[in-house]
Amino acid sequence: MPVGEALSQFPRERTWLLPALQAAQRAEGWLSPETLATVAAHVRVPASEVWGVASHYPELRLAKPGRRVVRVCTGVACVARGGERLLERCERRLGIRAGETTRDGALTLEAMDCAFACAVAPVVEADHADRGRVTDAVLDALLDAPAAHRIPPPLTGRGGPPATPPSSGSPGARFTMLRREAERRRTGARLAVGVGTCGLAVGAGETLEALRVEVQRRGLAWTVVAAGCNGMCWAAPIVEALRDGKPPITAARVTPEAVPRLLNALAANMAERDFAAGPDWMAAQRRVLTERCGLADPYDIADAFRHGTYGTLARVLEEGRPEAVIEEVRAAGLAGRGGAYFQTAVKWSGCRAAAGSPKYLVVNGEEGEPGIFKDRHLMEGDPHRLLEASLIAAYATGASRTILYIHGEAELAAERLAVALGQARQWGLIGERVLGSELSLAVEIRRGAGGFVLGEETALLESLEGQRAMPRTRPPFPVESGLFGKPTAINNVETLFAVVPIVARGGAAFAALGGGRGTKLFGLSGNLKRPGVVEMEVGCTLRTLIEDVGGGGETPVGAAVIGGPSGSVVHPRQFDEPLIPRGAVNPGTGGVVALGDAAAVPAAVRTLLAFNARESCGKCTPCREGTARMLALLDEPEIDVARVQALAETVQLASLCGLGQAAPLAVLSGLAEFPREFGVS
Ligand SMILES: Cc1cc2nc3c(=O)[nH]c(=O)nc-3n(C[C@H](O)[C@H](O)[C@H](O)COP(=O)(O)O)c2cc1C
Ligand code: SF4
Ligand code: FES
Repeated sequence: MPVGEALSQFPRERTWLLPALQAAQRAEGWLSPETLATVAAHVRVPASEVWGVASHYPELRLAKPGRRVVRVCTGVACVARGGERLLERCERRLGIRAGETTRDGALTLEAMDCAFACAVAPVVEADHADRGRVTDAVLDALLDAPAAHRIPPPLTGRGGPPATPPSSGSPGARFTMLRREAERRRTGARLAVGVGTCGLAVGAGETLEALRVEVQRRGLAWTVVAAGCNGMCWAAPIVEALRDGKPPITAARVTPEAVPRLLNALAANMAERDFAAGPDWMAAQRRVLTERCGLADPYDIADAFRHGTYGTLARVLEEGRPEAVIEEVRAAGLAGRGGAYFQTAVKWSGCRAAAGSPKYLVVNGEEGEPGIFKDRHLMEGDPHRLLEASLIAAYATGASRTILYIHGEAELAAERLAVALGQARQWGLIGERVLGSELSLAVEIRRGAGGFVLGEETALLESLEGQRAMPRTRPPFPVESGLFGKPTAINNVETLFAVVPIVARGGAAFAALGGGRGTKLFGLSGNLKRPGVVEMEVGCTLRTLIEDVGGGGETPVGAAVIGGPSGSVVHPRQFDEPLIPRGAVNPGTGGVVALGDAAAVPAAVRTLLAFNARESCGKCTPCREGTARMLALLDEPEIDVARVQALAETVQLASLCGLGQAAPLAVLSGLAEFPREFGVS
């Protein structure tokens, strides 16, 4: 599509600057000076400022890439699985360094910080498709030819609008009518293929295709659907056999070649024996937020209704007491899962009480922290639950506009949410007078363009206003003066996922888990036999996660990084500490990367610190200069621990946002727990 046509869909206002740049880049593959000028004219922003914004976001390309782009992940999880060695192999074979393009312009090679498919590390992205568990042979094939890796054809929503949309009655009565419509659409037995980001990277698309073809060829009654993932990335591609009234059967590592064998086994009632994936993986968990991930069909709103989605919303609207929702969230003790663990009820009541209109709800699905991939998992697996939660949150806070802000490379999550949103509109759940109630809500999807700091809530607001992603000083807090100066509640995806069960079953039921703190998602990766996404009660230990759930390492686990670049390095002697926010070992956002042995710690710490130094937005000196200086101190032949500690203290205390405040944690914990490995006594 020509650039002019791509831009014509956007109103000529600065808030559309980032989407306009993204659309222009999609049209031409990069942003030339001429294209930047065209964008500037369209959104009526000075060309110099457009350049300033475009040069800020890592996903925007100001130099023309080669005809193919191959990116090798060198994040901590991939390094633990040989990612750096793969990058060196690419450099040797192509005769170029990372960041360069071959002389004939055929291929650009890049290192990337994380592909967010850490559970199938090492990961290489070739021609916009991730490839996981990459071996040398697979890498060579990827370099020789465009990836033959299959992605399922774009799936649009199943079913269409309700035959007779309810036009009268209370929210509860209208919900009942829609639920009946959903029941009429029941399809019977289903084979749900776990098509999530990790699954796709290891062939779930091919399995889905093979299963569809073979079921059709045999004339079987199964309906084959692309579902989300149940978290068992280690066993992907996964197929769940779902039959009414019977427990699901989970089949592991179903390659296209194994499809006929799986269908034979299902026919002979032998699938459990031949393909079972290990029930202990699920048994160790407490699946509340993820209860439908892997089971629900994310492309089918009727399936969401049959699983009970939108029932809690209908009840809340029927009761008509938004304050009661906040009280239930307060009783649950729900604290933000974006990493800061701020009380959600306090945020919501602040927004509700604030003066100003319209009010906004921003759903933070940016998730740009290497080593964590739980929000993608939730959005891909159960998008209608996020919409239901957003509707309830908007009702409670008084918001009339919602923005779902999704990471620029989280394609599957964005695609599924867009489908779910379209369906929810058709079924009368988004828009004017939701289910005939007083709630009216406009919802739109926006995409990020890279950078860790973009996930920081005020930086994210800046990006929505067409600016560089740089955190704001506080006060004022966003609940009083957020997007366009209006009251704004910003919540993490996982936080919102917890809202539906809390309101449905009561805050006390959630607080009864995890010592009053509920459940938490963890992304397990690195040196583990069973990496994936799990949901546990808060207060579980790293030993449980690493040994019982993760199956232990291929070699003994000598250390773990928890909480990504804002987190810390944990010694095995602390593996029995409960993971509690602000406790001795803080779960942070929940990324757990198991390292092979203690000798790997200095390199991991260096990777995390270098990432923070690169990602510093530069607004405040302690973070901009301090992280780089700390990195230099680590590279000295003899590390001066006292100097590192003094500098770390300054950076922690004087930085404006959480990036700088948390950047020294990995260094400090590494030096404290693994002094020998750093060569200090
Ligand atoms: C550098 C940095 C990156 C962040 N990235 C994210 C992110 O990707 N997703 C997220 O929900 N919160 C992120 N946060 C936290 C947000 O600023 C904010 O606290 C959160 O979105 C609020 O939602 P919650 O209260 O539901 O956790 C980040 C914070 C910092 C300092
Ligand atoms: S702490 Fe770092 S990332 Fe945060 S505002 Fe300051 S320079 Fe930017
Ligand atoms: S995918 Fe490589 S570190 Fe996340």
